[in-house]
Amino acid sequence: MTRYLVVGSGGREHAIAWKLSTETDAVVFVAPGSAGIAATEGVRCVDLAATHHQALADFAVRERIDLTVVGPEVPLVAGIADHFRARDLCILGPGAAAAQLEGSKAFAKDVMRAAGIPTAAYQAFEDLEPALDYVAHAAHPLVIKADGLAGGKGVVISDDLATSASTLRDFMGQRRFGEASERVVIEECLTGPELSFIVVTDGNGIVTLSTSRDHKRLRDGDRGPNTGGMGAITPSPDATPALDRQLVDTIVRPTLDELRARGLDYRGFLYVGLMLTPTGPQVLEFNVRLGDPETQALLVAMETDLGPTLVDAATGTLQSGTLATTRSACCVVLAADGYPEAPRRGELISPIPHSDVAHVFHAGTSAEADGFATAGGRVLAVVARGDDGAEARRNAYRLAAEITWDGRQMRTDIGL
Ligand code: AMP
Ligand code: GLY
Repeated sequence: MTRYLVVGSGGREHAIAWKLSTETDAVVFVAPGSAGIAATEGVRCVDLAATHHQALADFAVRERIDLTVVGPEVPLVAGIADHFRARDLCILGPGAAAAQLEGSKAFAKDVMRAAGIPTAAYQAFEDLEPALDYVAHAAHPLVIKADGLAGGKGVVISDDLATSASTLRDFMGQRRFGEASERVVIEECLTGPELSFIVVTDGNGIVTLSTSRDHKRLRDGDRGPNTGGMGAITPSPDATPALDRQLVDTIVRPTLDELRARGLDYRGFLYVGLMLTPTGPQVLEFNVRLGDPETQALLVAMETDLGPTLVDAATGTLQSGTLATTRSACCVVLAADGYPEAPRRGELISPIPHSDVAHVFHAGTSAEADGFATAGGRVLAVVARGDDGAEARRNAYRLAAEITWDGRQMRTDIGL
């Protein structure tokens, strides 16, 4: 029997818990989880916040947890993995120092530069005046990024000097994201389709997942504001058989080598956000966790077990290989009215029908007397598998169309 603790409460964590619960002899707890996650057969939620490292570790000891899997980045950047390992508890995720790969864009860029990884040219700034001076002389468009965690809102693509100057004043002068935007990275603007590539690693062994594509804009045709992700498809329509190997050899392996040279042991998921530019793949960002909503699609498509690979990665015994599959899955996010600026909570969701081909993961719902209600921006993720992308899309949209509430937002072109 393997006893798992999944840390987090969103659609990604629901998918991880669901996947693990389908595997032989698994016992799955989620902290804090949600009422929607708790409704999954074989999954129990525990009312402990993702940031309460000590209480989570106490729970892991008490419940004899074999492996803790961390969903979101905030606890990792805050050092949850260090805390668990100091207590001899098995956890998948990098320690705080290596989690800076996501926690600081300047750190990530410095690692990339040192390791010779293809990425946009950049400069990091700690003070407003030199940053303003730099953009005054730089060619536009350019991209301004808050250095720290900003919940996906810390990136501005600026077409002109006026936008660049006001963004810098907002980020650095007004400290829009607090400490996270005191420092900024300013980089060259790249063009091309985006692709997500996620691996599991213990620092040496590398197990690849299928590629995927996230759709970040709110509306069809990649219009409207950026969101946390309105849907995903796996494999990415841009995937080629040679691409995975190229990404491991030219990006993942050199990154892990560079971290090791800096004395940093990396264990966990490594998410590489890429742009496929005319001159080849370039890294936009690293995340130190699984992507949301890519995970929902990846785990529904996955035909092999996930748990044993995660245990091997956490214990440093991982053999390189792949969990990739030739099957497709499409994830359609249903979002609340007003998302992303001001999502409307408390709207009653129509009953969620049973489906043999599609899954519904809860991202932001609450259980009310007469059913589930909206309780976040991204509310549900509807995910279906198919032999190809077209079939997966059809299956996902068939169920998604049946789930409604007042003001529900959904893109109709996920996976296209
Ligand atoms: P990041 O959080 O760094 O992935 O940035 C969020 C989004 O901003 C990415 O998914 C891209 O759509 C866009 N972006 C980031 N960096 C660049 C860049 N150098 N050139 C063009 N677009 C970018
Ligand atoms: N889907 C993008 C992310 O998880 O950061």
